[in-house]
Amino acid sequence: MKRTKNSTDIKQSGQVKSSQVDVHPQLEKFVRRHLASEWNQPLHPPTEEVFHSLAEGDVFTGSIILDSGCGTGESTRRLAKLYPGQRVIGVDQSLSRLGKSGVDCGVLRQDNWLLARAELATFWRLLHKQGVRLQKHLLLYPNPWPKPGHLQRRWHAHPVFPWLLALGGEIEMRCNWEIYALEFAAAVQIATRDTVEVRQFQPEEGVSPFEAKYLERGHALYSVKVPESVTAAFRLS
Ligand SMILES: C[S@@+](CC[C@H](N)C(=O)[O-])C[C@H]1O[C@@H](n2cnc3c(N)ncnc32)[C@H](O)[C@@H]1O
Repeated sequence: MKRTKNSTDIKQSGQVKSSQVDVHPQLEKFVRRHLASEWNQPLHPPTEEVFHSLAEGDVFTGSIILDSGCGTGESTRRLAKLYPGQRVIGVDQSLSRLGKSGVDCGVLRQDNWLLARAELATFWRLLHKQGVRLQKHLLLYPNPWPKPGHLQRRWHAHPVFPWLLALGGEIEMRCNWEIYALEFAAAVQIATRDTVEVRQFQPEEGVSPFEAKYLERGHALYSVKVPESVTAAFRLS
C-alpha cells in the first residue's frame, strides 16, 4: 500500500540523518593537515574557462559579495537588491538549478549581479590567485555530507578550507544541521585561534529556496559568522 505523508513526515523530511552525534573526532587532524600542506589537486578546466571569461569582463573589481553554492540564484538576486552598490556573484555547479534563473550556458550577468556555473574548490583557488578579496561570503545550506566517512567533503574539513578563509570578508555559513555548524565554528577556531559562535536563528522569510523549505518545515536553523577582522588576520598569518 502506498504510504501517504503525514505532518510528522513532512516536518522531518530534509532533516539531516547521521550516525554522528557530535563534532567528528578527526576534524582537528584534517584541518591541521590542510593548513600545513599546499593542496595541489588539478583545477577543473570548465571552471577555469568560466573564471577567465569573467576576469576579462572586469567582474572581480570593486566590492564583491560571493554567494557560494547559490543553487537557483534566488539568494543572489535578493542580496543584489539588498546591496545595490556592490556586485553579487552566485556560483553553483548545477546547471539544472541555475537554469531556473535562465542560465543556459556558463554565465548570466545582469545589473549588479551575475550567476556562474563553476566548481567552487577551483573557483575559490582562482579568485585567491587573482588577488580578489571579498566583502562578504555566503555559504547557504551547503551539502551536509552526513556520513562520518565523508567528513572531508564538508567545506570545513575539505583541503580547500584554507583558501575559503583566505578570500577574506565576513563569512556566513547557514545550515539546518547543528553538528555541521559546530564543526564549521570549531574548524575556524583551529585555523584562526579566534572563537566564533553558532547562533540559532529564525528569519521571517527564507533568503534561499532551501532556507524557505526548512523554515516551512519548522527546522532549527543555525548560522556561523566569521568576522572580516578574523579572515583578514588569517590571510596575513
Ligand atoms: C543544498 S543546496 C543549497 C542551495 C542554495 N544555497 C539554497 O540555500 O537554496 C547546495 C548547493 O551547493 C552546490 N554545490 C555543492 N558542491 C559544489 C561545488 N563543489 N561547486 C559548486 N557548487 C556546489 C549544489 O549544486 C547545490 O546547488
